[in-house]
Amino acid sequence: MQTSIDSSQFRQIMSRFVTGVTVVTSRSGQDIHGLTCNAFCSITVKPCTVMVSVAKDTRSWPLIEKSQIFAVNILSQTQSEISDRFAGRHKDKENNRFEGISWTTDITGAPILKGTQAYLDCQLTQSFDGGTHTLFLGEVVALNLDDTKSPLVFFSSSYLGIDKLK
Ligand SMILES: Cc1cc2nc3c(=O)[nH]c(=O)nc-3n(C[C@H](O)[C@H](O)[C@H](O)COP(=O)(O)O)c2cc1C
Repeated sequence: MQTSIDSSQFRQIMSRFVTGVTVVTSRSGQDIHGLTCNAFCSITVKPCTVMVSVAKDTRSWPLIEKSQIFAVNILSQTQSEISDRFAGRHKDKENNRFEGISWTTDITGAPILKGTQAYLDCQLTQSFDGGTHTLFLGEVVALNLDDTKSPLVFFSSSYLGIDKLK
């Protein structure tokens, strides 16, 4: 089918879809890296499985392919600076996005950032070709939630905070 879809309008429309913000990290030996990612969703509960869509031209992509692991760090309201940093917006931190940031590990060894709302530590189970991106499915092997934290929200290319509706 031939279409004349305007990709800038497509981007605009997609930006109206409210999301949270995650940093997806991975590790192979001493090599650690991560990227800001909002193309993230839950796929199944049995087993607990999530999907992240990662562009093939990122530095993160070959690391996830190689290590077959990733962690999804769900950012909290105060972490917009971390989101910008892992999206490559802090040029001085591009050699080491983790500089000055506290992190730990759980089962897979992928970096788990401190101060997030929650994390899902994942073993890669399937990959699907999505053209410029790969859809990575991961089975959750460890997880944690800090329900005292509020979410970082992304809408119309801006960060927002949100308070729970009573
Ligand atoms: C809010 C936000 C969401 C993003 N979501 C994605 C995403 O879902 N997938 C993706 O590949 N890149 C996404 N990006 C862009 C990457 O974070 C960015 O290209 C990053 O610099 C890639 O890092 P790397 O090449 O060092 O791995 C997003 C950026 C922002 C600011």
